[in-house]
Amino acid sequence: MLSQKNSGFQMSNSPVVITVGGGKGGTGKSTLSAGIGSVLAGRGTRVVLVDADIGGANLHTMLGLQRPRIGLGDFLSGHISINDATVATSQSNLRLLSGASDMLELAGPGYAQKQKIMSGLAGLDADCIIIDLGAGSGPVSAEFFAAFKAGVVVLDGLQTSVENAYSFLKNSVIRGLARQFPAGHRFHNLLLKFADPLSPGGIAAVKDLLMQAAKIEPASVQKARDWLASRRYSVVCNMVRDGSDVEGGRRFSDVVAKYLAIECVYAGYIVFDNAARDAIRSMKPFASIAGERTRICLETVADNIMTIAGAD
Ligand SMILES: Nc1ncnc2c1ncn2[C@@H]1O[C@H](COP(=O)(O)OP(=O)(O)OP(=O)(O)O)[C@@H](O)[C@H]1O
Ligand SMILES: [Mg+2]
Repeated sequence: MLSQKNSGFQMSNSPVVITVGGGKGGTGKSTLSAGIGSVLAGRGTRVVLVDADIGGANLHTMLGLQRPRIGLGDFLSGHISINDATVATSQSNLRLLSGASDMLELAGPGYAQKQKIMSGLAGLDADCIIIDLGAGSGPVSAEFFAAFKAGVVVLDGLQTSVENAYSFLKNSVIRGLARQFPAGHRFHNLLLKFADPLSPGGIAAVKDLLMQAAKIEPASVQKARDWLASRRYSVVCNMVRDGSDVEGGRRFSDVVAKYLAIECVYAGYIVFDNAARDAIRSMKPFASIAGERTRICLETVADNIMTIAGAD
C-alpha cells in the first residue's frame, strides 16, 4: 500500500532516475516533472530536471527561466561537463539540464548521442534526476523510457491518452527487450511479430510472446521476464475534474499487466488547476502558486512515485 511521507531522501551512491512520458501531447508531462521536482527539492533532495523533449524543449518556461544558453547540446559537443551544462533555477536544490539546442533540434540526437546522454546522466551531481520526455512514441522518448527502471506515464483523463500511453509503453517495452536480444537473435524475430500483431503470425500479448519463445529459445525467457519484472513504472492522472478521470489510471494499469506483463502502479492524480497555465504566463514555478489541494496532490504523487521507484 502506498503511503504519504514528507521526508526528503538522499542517495549515497548513484542518483535515482525517473523518466516521465506517456505518448499523448499536452497531458502535463512537463508540468508534473517540474511539480514533483519542486516538491522533492523543497525537502532537501538535490534534483536535476532533464528536458529531453528534443525539438519541443520548454521545461525552462515552466521553471520561470528564459531559454538557457547552455544545456545538453553543449555537453554533447564535448566542451563542458554534464554538471556544467545544468543551470540553477529560482529554487535551491533544483537545477535544469535543458534540451533546447539549435544543433539537436535540427537533426535530433543520433544513436551515439543518445548513448552519451544516457551514460552521462549517471555523472550528474544529484540525488534524483527527472527526465521529461516529449510527446509521441518515437525513438528518443521510447528509448529513454526503456533505458531506466523507473518511469511515470501521465494520462489526462481522456480515453485517447490511455490509448496513446499504451502504444508508447508497448514501443518502449519492444525497444527495451530488443536491447537484450539484438537483431539476429530468435527472440528478436518474435519481437517483430509482437510489434505488428495484425500481421500473419502476429503476437498480441507479452505472455504469448514468452510462450512462443519458450518453445524455440527457452534460455531467453527468464532474461526477458527479469527485464520486465525490473520495471518500476507508475501511472498518474493529471487535470482530474472528477472520479471518472481517475478510472483511466486504474484501467491503464490493468491493460498493461494483461498485455505487456508489466506492473504499472497507479500513483495518484493531480486536480485540474488554472494555476498551471497562470504559472506559464507569469513565468513562476507551478508548485509555488498551485492551490492547497493541488499541492497535496503533488506531494502525494511525488511520494508514491519515489516509493514505486524503490528510492526509499
Ligand atoms: N493539473 C493541471 N491543471 C490545469 N492545466 C494543466 C495541468 N497540468 C498541465 N496543465 C496545462 O496543460 C498544458 C500542457 O501541459 P504540459 O506542457 O505540461 O504538457 P506536456 O505533456 O508536457 O506537453 P507536450 O506533450 O507538448 O510536452 C499547459 O498549458 C499546462 O499549463
Ligand atoms: Mg512537455
